[in-house]
Amino acid sequence: MRSRVLSGMRPTGAMHLGHYHGALKNWVRLQDQHDCFYFVADWHALTTHYEDREVIEQSVYEMVIDWLAAGLDPEKCTIFIQSRLPEHAELFTLLAMGTPLGWLERVPTYKDQMDKLKDRDLATYGFLGYPLLQAADILIYKATYVPVGEDQASHVELTREVARRFNHLYGRMGDFEQKVAAALARLPKDDQRYYDKQRKAFGETGSAEAWSKGEGVVRRAAAAIDGWTSDETELLLGHLRGSGKTILVEPQALHTEVLRLPGLDGSKMSKSYGNAVLMRDAPAEVTRKIRGMTTDPARVRRTDPGDPEKCPVWDFHKVYSNDATRDWVVKGCKSAGIGCLDCKQPVIDAVLAEQKPWHERAAALTADPKKVHWIVEMGTERARTVAKSTMKDVRDAMGLAY
Ligand code: TRP
Ligand code: SF4
Repeated sequence: MRSRVLSGMRPTGAMHLGHYHGALKNWVRLQDQHDCFYFVADWHALTTHYEDREVIEQSVYEMVIDWLAAGLDPEKCTIFIQSRLPEHAELFTLLAMGTPLGWLERVPTYKDQMDKLKDRDLATYGFLGYPLLQAADILIYKATYVPVGEDQASHVELTREVARRFNHLYGRMGDFEQKVAAALARLPKDDQRYYDKQRKAFGETGSAEAWSKGEGVVRRAAAAIDGWTSDETELLLGHLRGSGKTILVEPQALHTEVLRLPGLDGSKMSKSYGNAVLMRDAPAEVTRKIRGMTTDPARVRRTDPGDPEKCPVWDFHKVYSNDATRDWVVKGCKSAGIGCLDCKQPVIDAVLAEQKPWHERAAALTADPKKVHWIVEMGTERARTVAKSTMKDVRDAMGLAY
């Protein structure tokens, strides 16, 4: 079975090259290896931009078109919009009941963002709670992997703690013991005794050997016994661990090495700084923007030598150029053998080539907006099936199944 991957992005409108190289390219790669769920985190956008109704509304489909242009394939991955799935809000509410306030106050992004976004009033309940909403987004799909930037690592860590606590509080509720006994009774007698022995040993000493022997029995049963379910595996592993059944799965963050692509002026690429090249900027616009890029300030005149390490164009070469071109840049820059416009040309050419399939795919989609809506519709319904099934488990576990 393929592992589940889940990630989301706030709807910020048209995507730029920083989004592509920092995240999207990776999402496209992952869809071939895993069962990927990607969603528009529109509620998350509201946690900081609750006053900007129009911006978010227009941004959602702009962003989805760019995802598809980048190569996300609705046949391979599931694309949906958070707010279309109230189940996320339900899980968020239920998790909120038992989540200590301190866990949220201690998330490093909380104070950081408050300081950074001084122009907004972020002393809101939604803003404090947003990492828990993110935990609900992840846990509702029982995702194994969550591709996110390093800045989001603490949110995935919080998600793990929330899941652990939930399983601890509710994993043994209801008919857990009976279900364990029923599953155990399906094992051969010898295996039952062996499993019990390992369980005791693990409980008393925490021995890794006892764990792996006990787990071995369960895995063998799963492979050998007709009609054995993954539910039964979870029950017996939970019992072995002494924690009860795993209802919510602890996810892992997936931080892939990415080369940072700075903005045109060398600071972080962002539409609001006006230093971004958009994925769907027209060729003339790309050319104009890159020709205008900041370079090493020491190169005032064409005859002044420069240092690529002090130049954002060099960061583009790291992403876009091969060794030979990079060699040519380093030598030409340091000896003033090439001018900055010469240096930028291979970058321009590479970006234009990269954009070509994006433009083609996006043109087809903008000409057929119904198709984009349909893709999101299909994805949303697929996501709903999974979200509903998790919520049933959660309600059962919490004693809300009347
Ligand atoms: N918080 C993420 C961001 O601001 C977006 C996000 C919301 C997300 N829910 C998620 C990412 C779940 C990964 C998994 O970029
Ligand atoms: Fe930057 Fe290239 Fe100019 Fe050197 S030659 S300063 S690397 S643009």
